[in-house]
Amino acid sequence: MAEEMDYQDYQKALQFDQRVTRMEALDHLTSVVIDGLKPNEGDRVLDVGTGTGRLAMVLYKRLRRGSVVGIDSGRGMLRVAREKTVRQGIENFLLVRGAAEKLPFREASFDSACLMLSFHHFASPEEATVELHRVLKPKGYLFSLDPVLLEPGDSQDEKLNEAIEEAFQEAHGPQFRFFTMSQLVGLYEAAGFSSNSYHVHEFSVDRRGIESIPMGAHWAQARGNMVFRRQKELVQRFERNYFAFATEGQKTVVTGKMRWATIRAAKG
Ligand SMILES: C[S@@+](CC[C@H](N)C(=O)[O-])C[C@H]1O[C@@H](n2cnc3c(N)ncnc32)[C@H](O)[C@@H]1O
Repeated sequence: MAEEMDYQDYQKALQFDQRVTRMEALDHLTSVVIDGLKPNEGDRVLDVGTGTGRLAMVLYKRLRRGSVVGIDSGRGMLRVAREKTVRQGIENFLLVRGAAEKLPFREASFDSACLMLSFHHFASPEEATVELHRVLKPKGYLFSLDPVLLEPGDSQDEKLNEAIEEAFQEAHGPQFRFFTMSQLVGLYEAAGFSSNSYHVHEFSVDRRGIESIPMGAHWAQARGNMVFRRQKELVQRFERNYFAFATEGQKTVVTGKMRWATIRAAKG
């Protein structure tokens, strides 16, 4: 790896109040990506897995002479993004339907690329990183933000990570991957990127209602599966490292930690 993992910086980027709503958390993450990407106003930026354009709808404002191209494999997502661009009269946000694993662009087409909460959905992250490397200009770079699991310290941690990933795959399909930071960095570096900086951003939650944390139902499902299988040790580790659920009246109170990894990686 190119440098020491900067776990000391956990709190720096995500110092919002613990009682933020899910949407506020996502807005905050959007600004983390845009600040990390630091685009020049004439840049051509590729937003891979653009979804409904959450990131691109903020990013395009920074590109007065440039543009954002948003690509996504989901027809429904793109329809919503397209409606938003038409309604708001945005001209420098272009939308393309396609897969990250086979980007329909010539090599060296973009100054930078961003990936917000999308990489872990890709059917082949290996192919996607090679494609990203191909379409970036020689001095190009990418900035990605993805949820991550803790690095496993022993075989029980590995089982815990597998159990969490399995619960998310039940909801999102077998292509969904829940990486650790070192796995993410390894994937980018294998495609030829050099990772200039990477951080794990962690924030604590202490909230009523599992719906109030991002992907709360899936986290609850992961714990539920472990309880059902009587995997006591895994449940304890889950509660220590991720989330604990308690009942208060009709509501579930969630306490714990959620982590996102950001990686800035250069093509050269
Ligand atoms: C959780 S959403 C994130 C959307 C957006 N970046 C955001 O932050 O709101 C993940 C997106 O990745 C897209 N996606 C999944 N696999 C893909 C692939 N192989 N190629 C392109 N897009 C993909 C999905 O359709 C979805 O819109």
